Amino acid sequence: MGSLLIILIASLLSVLTLLSPTTGDPGGPGCNSCHPDDYNALLRIKKGLNNPYIIISWEENGNCKDWCCIECDDATHRVTSLAIFGDTFKQPVHIPDAIGGLPYLTSLTLRKLPNLTGPIPPSITNLKKLTFLRLDYNSLTGPVPAFLSQLRNLNYLRLSNNKLSGSIPETLSTLPITGLFLDRNNLSGPIPNLFKGLNLTDLYIDMSRNQLSGGIPAGFGELDITSLTLGRNRLTGDASVLFGEKKGAYVIDISRNLLEFDFSTVRISKQLTNLDISHNRIYGSLPKELSKVYWQSFNVSYNRLCGEIPSGGTGRLQDPDRVGASAFVHNKCLCGPPLPNNCTRAAIGN
Ligand SMILES: *[C@@H]1O[C@H](CO)[C@@H](O)[C@H](O)[C@H]1NC(C)=O
Ligand SMILES: *[C@@H]1O[C@H](CO)[C@@H](O)[C@H](O)[C@H]1NC(C)=O
Ligand SMILES: *[C@@H]1O[C@H](CO)[C@@H](O)[C@H](O)[C@H]1NC(C)=O
Ligand SMILES: *[C@@H]1O[C@H](CO)[C@@H](O)[C@H](O)[C@H]1NC(C)=O
Ligand SMILES: *[C@@H]1O[C@H](CO)[C@@H](O)[C@H](O)[C@H]1NC(C)=O
Repeated sequence: MGSLLIILIASLLSVLTLLSPTTGDPGGPGCNSCHPDDYNALLRIKKGLNNPYIIISWEENGNCKDWCCIECDDATHRVTSLAIFGDTFKQPVHIPDAIGGLPYLTSLTLRKLPNLTGPIPPSITNLKKLTFLRLDYNSLTGPVPAFLSQLRNLNYLRLSNNKLSGSIPETLSTLPITGLFLDRNNLSGPIPNLFKGLNLTDLYIDMSRNQLSGGIPAGFGELDITSLTLGRNRLTGDASVLFGEKKGAYVIDISRNLLEFDFSTVRISKQLTNLDISHNRIYGSLPKELSKVYWQSFNVSYNRLCGEIPSGGTGRLQDPDRVGASAFVHNKCLCGPPLPNNCTRAAIGN
């Protein structure tokens, strides 16, 4: 009976642990008390941010009790999470160097702060335990720093929607990042051959809406990508490495680039349910397997494709009420329903 009770209590405790907020959770319930070094660092960060209203609770009272936007480890009293978002800083501020004074942070979020400007400071490399870094929807400038590779435990990096420029540093390729979001910046140059030999699974990559050029790295063909968004760049060449019968991706968006390859040779996996290759220079015919997928989104318009739109299957590509004609328009000689033009012998043979 006693041991049964212990098992019950133990399983109750593990359920409670599962329910408690993870370090990735923004906001945070505050701390009962914090380590004096962290306390001092937070006050310096507050000053560096020009005392914004959102952290008015950070006061010089000797501890961090009930402070907004932080979480602490109960045992060590070190600050493990800092998340500030959605505030209207009254004037432009930089990410304070003092951020490096919180070496036990595992999660850092500064987002939706339009007056957060300037570069990502090198002091961020002090945060050796950081696994989660989210600095999106700000006005950050400068490069995606190569020194981020010093954050050896980083597995989530989101810098979307800033004004970052320069090229994506090759050094990132050594990090075990499974969520990499660099979209909506002004990044240029080639995509480095990321994550080579790291054997990561379940990758989410978004580099859309930049000025990236060059080819899609051949190594991407060997990655276990779940979602890949590279739309609205200047990528050239062949993207067929991304496709394959055994690939696990459910999203591939390579739209609005300058990609040029034969689409008839690619194999389509049944996992893929969102495909956008529109606005490229892709040629050849549509693979028959496209008709076997029930598409959540599908667009091959504005390319140089030819031949009959595949019929039948769960995809019902010819059904005007499924993906519809706009998904196929502006190609060289695609034909048949839902497009209005008939497949004449000439069109099919083209
Ligand atoms: C950002 O700072 C500028 C300059 O001080 C100010 O005019 C503007 O209102 C601030 N933006 C926001 C969203 O508070
Ligand atoms: C983006 O970067 C290019 C150089 O690669 C530069 O010419 C352009 O002015 C930048 N655009 C913006 C909006 O910063
Ligand atoms: C890659 O990781 C998977 C599971 O994470 C494992 O099964 C597989 O053996 C690994 N492959 C290599 C080459 O390390
Ligand atoms: C496909 O893309 C074109 C061009 O961007 C757009 O006009 C059309 O609405 C899209 N159709 C679908 C079904 O997404
Ligand atoms: C397409 O072919 C069908 C039957 O073969 C015919 O009834 C129809 O008028 C043709 N449409 C066009 C636009 O040529």
